[in-house]
Order: sequence, then structure tokens, then C-alpha cells
Amino acid sequence: MKPELFTKDTTAIVYGYHVNAIQRMLDFDYAAGRKVPSVAAIVNPGSEGVHKVFFGKGEILLPVYRDLKSAAARHPKSDVVVNFASYRSAFDSSMEALNHPNIRTVCVIAEGVPERRARILAATAAKLDKMVIGPATVGGIKAGCFKIANTAGTYENIVESKLHRPGSVGFVSKSGGLSNECYNIIARNTDGLYEGIAIGGDAYPGSTLLDHILRYEAIPAVKLIVALGEIGGTEELRIVEALKAKKITKPLVIWVTGTCSKMFPAGVQFGHAGAKAGSDLETADAKNAALKAAGAIVPASFDDYGVKINETYEKLVKKGVIKPAADVPAPALPLDFAQALKEGKIRKATTFINTISNEKKEELEYLNIPISRVLGSGMGIGGVIGLLWFKRQLPDYGSKFLETALMLTADHGPAVSGAHNAIVAARAGKDIISALASGLLTIGPRFGGAIDGAAQQFKRAFDAGLTPEQFIRDMKGKGANIPGIGHKVKSLTNPDMRVTQLKAFCKKHFKKTDLLDYALAVEQLTTKKKGNLILNVDGCIGIAFVDMLSSSGQFSKDEIDNIVNMGCLNALFVVGRSIGIFGHIFDQKRLKQPLYRTPYDEIAYMTDL
Ligand code: ACO
Ligand code: LMR
Repeated sequence: MKPELFTKDTTAIVYGYHVNAIQRMLDFDYAAGRKVPSVAAIVNPGSEGVHKVFFGKGEILLPVYRDLKSAAARHPKSDVVVNFASYRSAFDSSMEALNHPNIRTVCVIAEGVPERRARILAATAAKLDKMVIGPATVGGIKAGCFKIANTAGTYENIVESKLHRPGSVGFVSKSGGLSNECYNIIARNTDGLYEGIAIGGDAYPGSTLLDHILRYEAIPAVKLIVALGEIGGTEELRIVEALKAKKITKPLVIWVTGTCSKMFPAGVQFGHAGAKAGSDLETADAKNAALKAAGAIVPASFDDYGVKINETYEKLVKKGVIKPAADVPAPALPLDFAQALKEGKIRKATTFINTISNEKKEELEYLNIPISRVLGSGMGIGGVIGLLWFKRQLPDYGSKFLETALMLTADHGPAVSGAHNAIVAARAGKDIISALASGLLTIGPRFGGAIDGAAQQFKRAFDAGLTPEQFIRDMKGKGANIPGIGHKVKSLTNPDMRVTQLKAFCKKHFKKTDLLDYALAVEQLTTKKKGNLILNVDGCIGIAFVDMLSSSGQFSKDEIDNIVNMGCLNALFVVGRSIGIFGHIFDQKRLKQPLYRTPYDEIAYMTDL
């Protein structure tokens, strides 16, 4: 096994969809100035696709494969697997990775891998001359080259611990948490880490402290080796033997944690599975003493660990063994927009404004009224229109007026243009939305779209003090039909009962109907010319609506003008008539009506005109 595990071009396959760890690996790449993302692919068992991640200031897509075999085949240069599989599947997936010819190093993050399986992993790695880091580890980092998963924590910590560029120290420990602490101690007391590995706290790690110490011994760029052992097991005694056998010649600063165990009853178990002294030999004190006797540099306590590291480092610098690595500034990681927004570091202008409803709360609200209260209030659909269209809780008669308008405009038979077009579209096989749209598109100044015009023109004339005669003359002078007056089939002798009903409603419920009375006076005159120039349903709705707003006392004159001039009242006809148009569409579909074609006797062919 070559002593170097990682280079600046090392790429990994990450087994398990751990997006935060993946992003942190790529952010490390940015700090280290890597041009090639250190994650080549993700294995997310059972699914495939792509995963978008930040790479520096930009974004890249990482391929996602359903299995390791597919990923390794597509990314033959990736020789590291960072395995996030849970303890249930970590063994099988790690063995698959180890046995793949492309893969040299497997990092097993999972805790709880059974000891027997952990030993098989270690034995398989040894047999194949490959490397297993873990189980139960955060991984490791080669400063300025490659970071495994969440090792070394945040971007800020990586930069503060100088991990974005290589130093002279090779480090290995059992504990992931203490590793991050030690990276910082090493950064503060030397020119920084060359590489750090956490082998994990299990009794049978895939690789041992000694394995990595011997790798550092063989890497010329590593001038100082620092290690952190732990109570329990005999691993550190193997280091003692290696020291005695002169297999380790570089300075080794090492501390075995757990010296406080002597203050507890025998056999105390510390955090890691392997951290329990089975005999006196395995106690921290015994191992520290043996290491010291074998020539390792052992501090008096963990508190002096940094002191000893610094003393040893300074001696190596003085001897010229170490030429301190230059401090290289790391690029500032662009703020993740969502995170920065969450932390209040940036603010984002919204792109549009909504003042009528809020679905983000626990309960949907219309104009800050929870939907349960809207339903319980009995305000009906007219009340909901009042809230959402006019931002008011209308008086009951106002809600009822709107509801009545919807009911009166719902339909007027299949002959009118809206129904006709919708029927033709439905018979052409169009979907219901398209058929509805084709019907709605006929609504305009002559059909169903005169509500706004009626309200605006009659209100204008009334506010201007025009008499009905003056108003009619005024409109005639403009060459314009009076909106709200006239009907194709209704007339004085064939009154439109919808209008009759609506007039009666207004007279009964509105405090005043000044504009309606004015319109009726106009109608008296227009019908003298032609019986069909009656106040039609569009006109009645628009004009009565103005009276409703005025009667309610809730709207100022300006607000009434704004509503009338905004041109929202035709929406009443659109909402109402949609009900009837859908009725005709469903009717045609129910009847399975064929494609419609206008009969010839309906068409005057006058091509010689
Ligand atoms: N104001 C003044 N004069 C009118 C009006 C009117 N609203 N409507 C028709 N006239 C006059 C015409 O100028 C014409 O006069 P002329 O004979 O001197 O030339 C005569 O009445 C006949 O006009 P037409 O447009 O042929 O009458 P028609 O019955 O076809 O018109 C219609 C019906 C389209 C509704 C028409 O009255 C009109 O445009 N009204 C205004 C728009 C409107 O209110 N539409 C809503 C109708 S209801 C609904 O769709 C639900
Ligand atoms: C309608 O409501 O569609 C009618 O008033 C129009 C018409 O021509 O019947």
C-alpha cells in the first residue's frame, strides 16, 4: 500500500445521500483551491438521477447511481468510497467497495458495526493491500487536498486550523471529535497539518494508529508525527514495539487519554466501544509510560499536549528539518443564500406583494381570517368575494348581493355566445378548461362584459349631475352604446326576470339606491326608442353594486371610484357564467355529442360582395 492515500486530484464515491457532508467536502475543495470536485458520484440505493450542489461560487450536478457497481464503472478514477451506510448495511457495502478493483480506500462512518464484521473488513483490507478507515469514524483530511465527509467541521474551522493547505504534521487518533480539537492545537503550535486520520473508536478498527504512523514515517513531507491514543486495548503497545524496533524514526508526540480512569471503580467504560481497560497494561498511565520509555514524546497531561507539539516543532525548524509552510489565505466561502437569509446576514426583496390571503400559517387565512371562521361566519361565497376582491367584510346584504349576482348570471341558455362557443369546443373534443376558455373569451362589451362600463358611465353621469336625457345625448354624441342598456331578446314586453329580482333585492336591502333610480329613469327614455333598450342584467349588477358600496358606509368616495374604475366587476359575470358554461360542457359530454358543423342554411354565402 503506497503511503499516500490522497492527492489534490483524489475523487470519491459517496455511498448514501448525505447532502450536507457532500457539500462540506466540496466547500473544502473551494478552500483548498481544487479544480476537480472531490465528490465524483453519489450512490443512493434504489434511485438515480442528479444532485445539484454548490462548487465554489457556482453549481454543479453530481450523478446519483442506484448501486456502487454502476458508479464505479462510470467513475474509474475514483478510488475512495466514503460509506455512510447504516450499521445494518455498512459491512456488505464496504466489502463490495473493498473488492472493487478501482477502490483503494474505504471510509466506514457507521457506528455499531459488529466486531466480527469489523475484523473481517480489516482482514480483507490487509489481504487486498487496501485501506479501511473506521468504522465509527468521522474520517480524515489531507490538508489542502482531500477531506472525508464532515471531518474538521465548518469551513471557518478548516481555515482557522490551516487545513486548506498542507503543513508538516501527520496526525492520527481514535476519536473524531478530539481529532478536530487536535487539528486546531496543531495549527496553533506548528505550521499545520499534513494529514489527519481518525481511525474510529471501535475495538477492531479497519486500520490502526500504527498503520497510519508508519504511513507518515514513509511520507517525506511529514516531519513530525502526532498521535492520540485511548485507554483500552494494546494498540499503543504495538507503537512502543515499533519505536523500539526503530520503525518510527521521526519525532512522535503522543498522549493516551483516559488517565482519569484511575479515579473510578475498575473497568469503567468510556465513550468508545474500545475504551475500556481490560488489564493494567491497557490503562492510559501504563501506555503513556511505556511510550515515553520507548522514546516517544509524551506530555505530562493533555493540557501540555500542545506545548510538547510546539517544542518538538520548533526544534525541527531550528534544525532546518522543517521549513514552515507559508500561510496561504483561503477564499471566503460565498454565503449560502438560504443560510445567510436565515441568519439575518442578508435580506432579499420580495418579487411581488400579496395583501389578501396567507396559506403559510397553520390555517389558511383570507384577509387574516382563518378559513374555519370564514366557514363558520355564514358569509357565504359573496362574503369570500368581499374579502378577496374588495378586502372588506361586507355587510350581510352586500355578501348576499354578490351571491345573488353570481346566481343570476350563472346561465342564460345554450344560445348565448359564451355557451355556444363552449358547446362547440366541447363537441370538438376539447378538455373542459379549454372549452370553458373558449366560452369565456366571448365575454366583452356587448355580452357579459358591460358591468364595469355600466357602473363607470352611469356613475360618471350621475356624479356630473347630468339628467338622464343629457346622459343619453352625451353617449350618443360619443357614438357609443350605453353599457348596461339593451338586450337581444329581452324587452319591456319580455322583461328579464333576473333584473326584476335584482331590483327588488336592492330596494329591499340597500339603504339607498340613488344610482339604480337614475338608471331606471334612463331606461324610461331608451325604451321609448326601442323596447329592447332595457336596463339589462349587466347594467343592473354594475349600477346596484355602486349603490351597495355607498350604502355600506364602509367605503369612501375615493375607494368606490377606485373599485369602479379598476374594472373588477365584470369578474362577477365571469365567475357566475363559468358555472353555466361548465354545465353546458358537461351536458354535451354526457350526451356524447359529435363535432359541431354549422348547417349550410345558417350561412349566407355572398362571396360576390
Ligand atoms: N345604448 C344606446 N343605444 C343602443 C344601445 C345602447 N346600449 N343598444 C342598442 N342601441 C341602439 C343602436 O344604436 C341602434 O340604433 P339605430 O337603430 O339608431 O342604429 C339600435 O339600438 C339597435 O342596435 P343593435 O346593436 O342592433 O341592437 P341589439 O339588440 O343587437 O343590441 C346589445 C343588443 C348588443 C346588448 C346592445 O344593446 C348593446 O350593445 N348594449 C350595450 C352593451 C351591454 O349592455 N351589453 C350587455 C348585454 S346583457 C348580457 O350580455 C348579459
Ligand atoms: C345572458 O345573460 O347571457 C344574456 O343576458 C345575454 C343574452 O343574449 O341572453
